[in-house]
Amino acid sequence: MTSTRVSSSANSELSSSLEDLVCLQDFEGCARGLVSSIAWEYIHSGAADEITLRANRERLDAIRLCPRVLRDVSLLDTRTSVLGMELPFPLMIAPTALHKLVHAEGELATVRGANAAGVPFTLSTLSSVSIEDVAAQATVPLWFQLYIQRDRELTRSLVQRAEAAKFAGLCVTVDTPILGVRNRLQRARFVVPPEIEFANLHEIEVKRARHGGTGAFTGVIPESMTWKDIEWLQSFSKLPIVLKGILNPEDADQAAKLGVAGIIVSNHGARDLDTLPATIDALPRVADRIAGRIPVLMDGGIRRGTDILKALALGAVAVLLGRPVLYGLGTGGERGVERIVKILRSELELTMALSGRPTIASIDRTLIWS
Ligand SMILES: Cc1cc2nc3c(=O)[nH]c(=O)nc-3n(C[C@H](O)[C@H](O)[C@H](O)COP(=O)(O)O)c2cc1C
Repeated sequence: MTSTRVSSSANSELSSSLEDLVCLQDFEGCARGLVSSIAWEYIHSGAADEITLRANRERLDAIRLCPRVLRDVSLLDTRTSVLGMELPFPLMIAPTALHKLVHAEGELATVRGANAAGVPFTLSTLSSVSIEDVAAQATVPLWFQLYIQRDRELTRSLVQRAEAAKFAGLCVTVDTPILGVRNRLQRARFVVPPEIEFANLHEIEVKRARHGGTGAFTGVIPESMTWKDIEWLQSFSKLPIVLKGILNPEDADQAAKLGVAGIIVSNHGARDLDTLPATIDALPRVADRIAGRIPVLMDGGIRRGTDILKALALGAVAVLLGRPVLYGLGTGGERGVERIVKILRSELELTMALSGRPTIASIDRTLIWS
């Protein structure tokens, strides 16, 4: 098996030239050459024919902006608040599993990059560094992404560990009772390398067989969950609960009626069910149905400041960023993550100025050319 880690020396040599990488696509190209081929297949791929993976990008690209001119944009304010967190701009880091696949320090480097850029970080249940070790490094708010475990007492203990470690929110992923058709992982015979662990799941880890393909995640995702499980979480969680993976306005409505704190419009980065709609197409329908009752966030395909602007215009209060964070991490460790986020922030500022929208509150649907 090829090593799935990038040596720290390779990373530090590269970080000196990080300034030469000027947009997120540049990082993608760089990361591709730096991480192992098996890690690349894992982070880059989508489900089945990758129709939804392409759609997430194509549908964002297809939207045209409708600017206003002769507005005072000399003072820009990108700040916003989401569920009690003050964000320098409306972006958070999405949960992604096993950061040690692309960098030896894994999520520790990611959270330091998030600290430097000042954006909240969502830690995956399937992280390769533990809840407590990440929390010890964090100066930014953290959310814990929960995969409800088949063993509900283990689930409860994960929530309680996140509470004890002062996480600010619980992001419950509801779109993945099981993994989908991941042909690229199957072809690559993806396995989690033996030196990398599911650091929050030692109870399962010890028993876990190291299967290939999607079997590599056997036993660590729910297999079954229902609205009753959300009610059960609400009965004891002290953290605000945000449901991640909502596309259908009916589900959005049900979530709001149940009293969850927020929802994330997401198709899981197009990794599980292929031919789902692009998230940017689902977003306005969901936002209309929610009608301001709870905050709506969105992820999937965000690669440019203009993408953030479009998502805000169509009803999101903030977006989450998945793969590009791993491209930054794989390219330059914590400095790579920091730079990725800072590029997006500066692109958003330019975009707001050029479209005549100097504040987050001034971004609305009139910004979309229809
Ligand atoms: C490599 C990888 C691992 C992921 N792992 C998780 C996970 O553990 N939990 C989760 O809720 N979502 C996971 N996701 C989905 C992301 O949270 C997010 O929804 C998606 O990546 C956003 O799309 P983008 O990559 O185009 O930004 C993962 C995505 C990728 C690319």
